[in-house]
Amino acid sequence: QQFSYLLAIESSCDDTSCAILKNDQVLSNVTASQKVHEQYGGVVPELASRAHQSNIIPVVDQAIKKAGISKSQLSAIAYTQGPGLMGSLLVGSSFAKSLSLALDIPLIAVHHMQAHILAHFIDSGQEKPQFPFLALTISGGHTQIVKVNDYHDMQVIGSTMDDAVGEAFDKSGKLMGLDYPAGPMIDKLARKGNAKAFKFPIPTAPDLDYSFSGFKTSVLYFLQKQTQKDPDFIKNNLEDLCASIQYTIIEILFQKLDKAVKQTGIKQVAIGGGVSANSGIRERLLAKREKGWKVFMPPFEYTTDNAAMIGISGYFKYLQKDFTDLSSTSSPRMSM
Ligand code: KG4
Ligand code: ZN
Repeated sequence: QQFSYLLAIESSCDDTSCAILKNDQVLSNVTASQKVHEQYGGVVPELASRAHQSNIIPVVDQAIKKAGISKSQLSAIAYTQGPGLMGSLLVGSSFAKSLSLALDIPLIAVHHMQAHILAHFIDSGQEKPQFPFLALTISGGHTQIVKVNDYHDMQVIGSTMDDAVGEAFDKSGKLMGLDYPAGPMIDKLARKGNAKAFKFPIPTAPDLDYSFSGFKTSVLYFLQKQTQKDPDFIKNNLEDLCASIQYTIIEILFQKLDKAVKQTGIKQVAIGGGVSANSGIRERLLAKREKGWKVFMPPFEYTTDNAAMIGISGYFKYLQKDFTDLSSTSSPRMSM
């Protein structure tokens, strides 16, 4: 049977997303974000799965409509198997299984973090990385340096021992009174601030691993000390604080990334995950071209969680007939 269209579903955290692909081309990519978590300063798993439940049908309907196809033209269904929140993953996987059963077409299970990396292979007119390359995957749940040997042959060579880098942004933001998720706002305010105004320590972690919990604590103590002396300290220094915090986070990220490039001798570096939307990180990466690096950044719409990246991973698995059966289970802590 000839391949025509693939439908992909992503529901690992707090975004419900559906995409339709034709080979490596994205025909539609529809995402419903969940506002309900903002008031809690973080994702509430129980509320996330409920919102997925009510969002999934309209999101799938819209994606099919936008692509201008009918369900009967689909060749396969891809979905996120893990890692992620169990209740969230279950909504996407149950829906994907039902649809594959109803249409009698193959089901494909996708690894969310591999998908963040494979987003670079979506046909977007940009040059694509060549194997092997290094990927820095940075999100609210992950911080990893990955050696990518092939589409589904990946090796994690460094990862965080505690918090993810997105949490370092979000928790620092919370300490400064910013709304969740604070990453985008810190990015925006940092552009107007002085990155050298305040100095925060770079945590130590072995080899290519990361640690962010000590950084968060040092921000906490610093802010406590300063606001005791001046209650308006945060308000009066918000831009400089954001710039200094972001600068330190970028230092932490790039010290290990530099090391990974030296150790592996691989100078092709791609970034992915929600935090790779950060303008400071993008600037720093672009500057590395002067050092002979070849750098890759996915289009903005494919950096944060989306189903198009699940679709491209599913497409490569489809080509290898790497299908899964209906008894497969979601896997919150899936390894690469
Ligand atoms: O990949 P993603 O959408 O969801 C997860 O899988 O976690 O990443 C969300 C994370 C949040 O921590 C958010 O604050 C961060 O990405 N983020 C940013 C920026 N845009 C999103 N962090 C720093 N700068 C940004 N511009
Ligand atoms: Zn993600």
